[in-house]
Amino acid sequence: MTDLDSSLLSPCRAGATDLVGLLVAALDEQALITLDAGGRIVSWNRAAELLTGYCEDDILGRHVSCLYPPRHIADGAPEFDLKQARCRKKICHQGWCMGKNGSPVCVSMTLHRLVNSRHEVLGYGLILRDDAGAASAPPAQIAAAGSTSELVQAITMLQSEVTERRRIEHELLQLQSLLRELAAHQDQIKEDERKRIAREIHDELGQNLLALRLDVSMLMARCASRHPRLGQKALAALGQIDAIMSSVRTIINNLRPGVLDFGLHAAIEWQVREFQRRSLVVCDLHFDHAEFKLGDHRATALFRILQESLTNINRHSQASRVSIALKRSGNRLSLSIADNGIGMHPGCRRKSNSFGLVGITERIHHLNGELTIDSARGHGTTLRMTIPILPEED
Ligand SMILES: Nc1ncnc2c1ncn2[C@@H]1O[C@H](COP(=O)(O)OP(=O)(O)OP(=O)(O)O)[C@@H](O)[C@H]1O
Ligand SMILES: [Mg+2]
Repeated sequence: MTDLDSSLLSPCRAGATDLVGLLVAALDEQALITLDAGGRIVSWNRAAELLTGYCEDDILGRHVSCLYPPRHIADGAPEFDLKQARCRKKICHQGWCMGKNGSPVCVSMTLHRLVNSRHEVLGYGLILRDDAGAASAPPAQIAAAGSTSELVQAITMLQSEVTERRRIEHELLQLQSLLRELAAHQDQIKEDERKRIAREIHDELGQNLLALRLDVSMLMARCASRHPRLGQKALAALGQIDAIMSSVRTIINNLRPGVLDFGLHAAIEWQVREFQRRSLVVCDLHFDHAEFKLGDHRATALFRILQESLTNINRHSQASRVSIALKRSGNRLSLSIADNGIGMHPGCRRKSNSFGLVGITERIHHLNGELTIDSARGHGTTLRMTIPILPEED
């Protein structure tokens, strides 16, 4: 028994205090440590042993500073904490407690002063809670940082916040790249499926319609002179078949323009002609190089970007003229689409439920390319994109 213990006990309560001492010793969730007025350790429970690795025999009688990181000892943190607790009744903060094996443990610490009836400080009660969950990793320079316990506490909390934010940022970046891959993959599946359906409609429905047309036109030729009214009916049926064949061609082209099979130049020319015909906007088209074999998926992506850009011009720009240029410079291919319309409203590029420009951006990203959008109110909008030409395409 120490001086502190004996001074705290009155003979009649000694039995009860012994029981309290046993209870404290048995608690294994919170490290409960008592210090004498000078800061030397006078009692040590089982939880303190589990937390730090020190057993009673190692630690009793030693100064509490042996639980502080060396640099904090050099900075006078233990004396500072004892002084603070003496003045303020108790202090609480988060910090680092050095284990027997020299590694720091993140803890919440509460230091109470213990006073007698005359308000003389007889010692201190120190409670340590393992806070390993609150800080994912002890700072490497814990022993070399901080000058006061408050500073240490603030740094520790900031560090755990920074660690947490880094982890979240890392997870978000991983998710973003996963979503991008997923979007590109789904785009690919969609294009392949459109191609397949277009081919099936062409081969099955288209061929059958053609056969039907041949039969009806033969019927019409045979009966026109002998059965004029039947001939009229056959002629009307022929007209309907032609209208259906035209709709089928439009559906096929909307799914995937067959002209894409003839190369990107041909597909762009066709799309621009169609746009001009539908919108009455004058279009200038410029290619500065001979056609080369751009991969099917990449050509389709550029074609879809052109389609979306022209749709946007038609819907939003009020332009009267559009310039489209496909240029090659070394191993880079660039496409620019410029209109002379009203320009974009600032903040319009990303509206909820607007995905055209997002789709363009994602497609260009997937092609390892770059995209810039220049727009000023009243001065039109220009989309410029550049993608690398792969060695096998050259
Ligand atoms: N050429 C343009 N001229 C003027 N404004 C444009 C032009 N292109 C796009 N915008 C503006 O940018 C916005 C976003 O375009 P985006 O293509 O992303 O979406 P959207 O066309 O509104 O919808 P959708 O998802 O059907 O494409 C448009 O709503 C429009 O305000
Ligand atoms: Mg759009």
